[in-house]
Amino acid sequence: MKFFIDTANLAEIQEAYDLGVLDGVTTNPSLMAKEGISGDEQVIAHYKAICDIVDDKVSAEVISTDFEGMIREGKELAKLDDKIVVKIPMIKEGVKAIKYLHSEGIRTNCTLIFSAGQALLAAKAGATYVSPFIGRLDDISFDGLELIEQIVHIYRTYDYTTEVLAASIRHTMHLIKCAEIGADVATCPLKVITGLLNHPLTDKGLAQFLADHAKAAGK
Ligand code: E4P
Repeated sequence: MKFFIDTANLAEIQEAYDLGVLDGVTTNPSLMAKEGISGDEQVIAHYKAICDIVDDKVSAEVISTDFEGMIREGKELAKLDDKIVVKIPMIKEGVKAIKYLHSEGIRTNCTLIFSAGQALLAAKAGATYVSPFIGRLDDISFDGLELIEQIVHIYRTYDYTTEVLAASIRHTMHLIKCAEIGADVATCPLKVITGLLNHPLTDKGLAQFLADHAKAAGK
């Protein structure tokens, strides 16, 4: 399973990249706003800065909601860097835009997926990725992981090449379950990726090893 980091914070992207396990980045307008990024020039410069850190696959989201606008923005974003994947919302015009961008060889990530039917539409339109939002479904008492399972099953049954990019991941168990289910990618905050490091027995074991080594060395 590929690991993407879900942030527009350059320091966090660099930290995840330096760990050596990062396969890509996802951003959205809220994450960009959180970093204080606004205005075309700043937004473009920020996407370029992200692309300079990672090797590939940086999702950059369009703001337009009409077909022409999404196509225009999508083409502009894709031109910034070969690493850009254009993020398009799951709306009627979005499905048309995904189909068009696919025919132009531009990779897309269909975002705001909350049902298997939406995932099916996105795959038929030729999306490179679909982003089902686990945490936001859990928040309203629906099972987000069950949706991932359903989409993985449908895509495998019909050999769709669209990758399941599990999004809105809130904790390490979401991430581990996504790996068990067979999601192709999981995008998560830095704390979820680094959270995988933690186990009290690792800390205890290491402290013991170091103490025994020091004792044997007469320190
Ligand atoms: C990713 O592409 C999504 O934009 C993101 O995971 C949403 O996460 P949230 O529900 O924590 O905002």
